[in-house]
Amino acid sequence: MSVFLGITGASGAPYAARLLTALSEAGVEVGVTISDSGFEVLATELHGDPGMAHEEVVSRLTDGLAGVTVYDSRDYKAPYASGSAKVDGYVICPCSMATVGTIAAGAMANLVHRAASVALKEERKLVLVPRETPLSTIHLENLLRLRNAGATILFAAPGFYNAPQTIDDLIEFVVGRCLDQLGIENRLTRRWGQ
Ligand SMILES: Cc1cc2nc3c(=O)[nH]c(=O)nc-3n(C[C@H](O)[C@H](O)[C@H](O)COP(=O)(O)O)c2cc1C
Repeated sequence: MSVFLGITGASGAPYAARLLTALSEAGVEVGVTISDSGFEVLATELHGDPGMAHEEVVSRLTDGLAGVTVYDSRDYKAPYASGSAKVDGYVICPCSMATVGTIAAGAMANLVHRAASVALKEERKLVLVPRETPLSTIHLENLLRLRNAGATILFAAPGFYNAPQTIDDLIEFVVGRCLDQLGIENRLTRRWGQ
């Protein structure tokens, strides 16, 4: 199975890191692209150092993970830039409102936008994990436009009905729902009724 993971500059870097680990552990071939702001948020939220070099951020993110390839956000030679490449699912986690707006407008300023656009035109699974609050009318209209175009809007909104004890429990709730949407078996969170 092949999945594209776009990481953009919304808060929620721990979701991205956990999702990448879970995909790799599930034996998925993962192509990762990180936007410029995505690098800043990863460096800030995972390492407390907004200025950390991109190479170091990538090295720490992918350390020990099998099947992961990182593509530059301007690398349009990457397979994810074309619908002719076989890709089973696309997820943007976290997904900033800037990226939501750009994709909704059909604009493509980097490989994350391009991959999302490919997913929509090829009618493939696209999961967006936004993190913003509150939402303006513009945000809501953009999200509705993307939903109508076929995207799954999976807010970074962990549930509390499983009595989470740790931040990791909250992260795994969201990541587990992402994997569910991609059709990847997982036990990251206890399922209601079990
Ligand atoms: C630490 C930090 C946290 C941010 N959190 C959010 C957020 O939660 N949601 C959001 O839409 N934008 C957030 N932003 C702003 C985006 O990073 C900014 O709009 C950027 O242009 C997004 O570009 P990208 O979509 O190409 O990554 C944050 C920025 C920083 C530096």
